[in-house]
Amino acid sequence: MIIGGGGREHALAWRLRQEPGVTAVIACPGNPGISQIGRTFPMPIDLGSYADLAEREQVQLTVVGPEAPLVAGIVDRFTARRLPIVGPTQAAARLEGSKIFAKEFFTRANIPTARSIQVDSAVKALDALKHFPLPVVIKADGLAAGKGVIVAQTPAEAEDAVLKLGPALVIEEFLEGEEVSFIAVSNGSELFPLEASQDHKRLDNDDFGPNTGGMGAYCDGRIVTSAEADIIMDCIMLPAIRRMAVEGTPFTGFLYAGLMMTAAGPKVLEFNVRLGDPETQVLMHRFTAGFLDLLQLSAGIITIPAFSLRTSIRSEPSVCVVAASAGYPEKPRTGDPITGIEAAESLGATVFHAGTTDAGGTLSTAGGRVLGITASGPTLQAAIDATYAAVSQIHFTGMHVRHDIARKGLKRWLT
Ligand code: AMP
Ligand code: GLY
Repeated sequence: MIIGGGGREHALAWRLRQEPGVTAVIACPGNPGISQIGRTFPMPIDLGSYADLAEREQVQLTVVGPEAPLVAGIVDRFTARRLPIVGPTQAAARLEGSKIFAKEFFTRANIPTARSIQVDSAVKALDALKHFPLPVVIKADGLAAGKGVIVAQTPAEAEDAVLKLGPALVIEEFLEGEEVSFIAVSNGSELFPLEASQDHKRLDNDDFGPNTGGMGAYCDGRIVTSAEADIIMDCIMLPAIRRMAVEGTPFTGFLYAGLMMTAAGPKVLEFNVRLGDPETQVLMHRFTAGFLDLLQLSAGIITIPAFSLRTSIRSEPSVCVVAASAGYPEKPRTGDPITGIEAAESLGATVFHAGTTDAGGTLSTAGGRVLGITASGPTLQAAIDATYAAVSQIHFTGMHVRHDIARKGLKRWLT
């Protein structure tokens, strides 16, 4: 069973349905794309009812997509009823649920991150701002669905951000470099890294416009070198897993480090306690075997050492371009009919649904991020071309896409 109904969850369902050993996939609430793969239960429900559903449907393993049910304690509920589930406990999910908890944890675990000051009032925040050059980063403490971080370029912007996001805030040094999404799966003591991927957070081409949940992603095996991956594992991921265990809140599930690759090495911008969206779309697109084993390892169903797991991924790069509604992220327009998915898929792409609905028999837009058009090719340029050829088949009123997804990665193919 997959909890969630976005593009990430469609990609999970799509991959899991191809894994030998999976006889059926269900999702709650799911979306029209997932309902082509398995049954969906589109009612909005509380944590207890998810567990009831898992019991009733004799679900062998549940995977949670979004952070909200994790932070609310879904894993504790399932575990208390002996229902196998992949994800962190409520206590461990604080790594994403509270930025202040996370920053204090980075210090205790000696994990490299931006210098910061935590404050609990506007007065303290304005005082803290004096200790940082511009630009400066201001972060709301709690979950904010991607809207809780402002990079202020001027003192006036910084003061506005304090008033908008406060009172509990993290004021943070601005880090320069390329952003990387590094996700690993843990069973509480061991850690199995997935390949690094890269998201595109800003709404518009060339990283202009407001932050979004992510406008596209790619994964080509070149985003970090193997030496960099070793540093990320040794200095960031493993210390986090070890420290969580020492503190009595072992971390299970997907640990996603949002990293800045600075001149002084990788530094953590944030931890998420789940898979990324749209990073999952490209990660699942490349997986060819062993993903179910990883989930079972994380949930404690199998106990073989992580290093002996046999997973395999395709060597071709994958690219995912998100088609968003007009008005996203502030006020997405909905209710517009969508056409061209079959034509896009006939070109070899996979179209993952996110904010779609098929109520009334017509597929229409129902959210900010509508579709994730995903394709691969023998080179990154070929994967980009294949993805945008498929994107050009898709239509709905007000559709917005970035035209530069994965372009940053091309420089790594020149050498
Ligand atoms: P977060 O939710 O903490 O990942 O922040 C959202 C986005 O804001 C990140 O993906 C970065 O693009 C940007 N950001 C956050 N913290 C910093 C920082 N210290 N320096 C530069 N950019 C940042
Ligand atoms: N794509 C960013 C995230 O899932 O948080």
